[in-house]
Amino acid sequence: METALDLLGAAEKIVVFTGAGISTNCGVQDFRGPEGLYKTAEEKYHLPYPEALFDMDYFRRDPHPFFDLTKNMFLLDLLPSLCHKLVFRLEQQGRISLVVTQNIDMLHQKAGSIKLMECHGSYEQAHCLGCRKEYLLKDIEESIMNDVVPRCSCGAVVKPDVVFFGENLPDDFYRILENPPPCDLILILGTSLNVQPASLFALEMAAKVPSLLVNLQRTDYDSQMDLVLHSDLDLFADYMMKKLPQV
Ligand code: OAD
Repeated sequence: METALDLLGAAEKIVVFTGAGISTNCGVQDFRGPEGLYKTAEEKYHLPYPEALFDMDYFRRDPHPFFDLTKNMFLLDLLPSLCHKLVFRLEQQGRISLVVTQNIDMLHQKAGSIKLMECHGSYEQAHCLGCRKEYLLKDIEESIMNDVVPRCSCGAVVKPDVVFFGENLPDDFYRILENPPPCDLILILGTSLNVQPASLFALEMAAKVPSLLVNLQRTDYDSQMDLVLHSDLDLFADYMMKKLPQV
């Protein structure tokens, strides 16, 4: 923890890359952890394979599991974790170049982060799968909460703009992959780094600049980092907030 404190304390252009592990303390399940969504959802929704939940081909056949999962997430009325708050405090200090999150739970925004890229998209907008008409979350939220699959005036299903397997990530993501933001520390938080191309961004950054990975479990990429802490992220955040001046 002390070496991590030194790394974080010295960095002035931090790029943060986050995954589901930053939100588990808020009540969101991660995907591949011991209690992860891919273990519980397969059985709950009788999926042919766990990732079907976010698979375009499966969604076209049966959008109900995804919308039920969405409804349950909205019902949780989530609040940011201490670690989301740490990331925002660092931004307030002018030390964040960019936060890249794979998460679709909107908790970085709720914590106040502005320099934020949601590389797996977001619920804020949605598109008709037929005529591509754009919708906002407020247009489809009531349907979702009433267990009705949202439909366009043309009759086709309206899908929130969260990135599914089989879809491209937002253009901005490919831009930063080509042209990374200024960075003297890549801080990787709560991700197995198992899903490409998002993880490629973090791994390519880690090959170029000092890197710190904080994750409860080992990842397949620990050996590619300068420093790895196998820690709960809120314990990490609590320590950093107590030790770092003005954070
Ligand atoms: P994973 O579930 O693959 O990894 C989350 C990691 O967070 C695990 O390795 C956990 O050990 C760790 N973790 C959980 N709680 C933690 C805590 N309190 N403190 C520290 N670490 C903790 O989730 P992601 O890497 O985010 O994509 O998954 C990447 C993508 O896979 C998701 O964005 C999603 C999914 O398929 C799409 O749906 C497109």
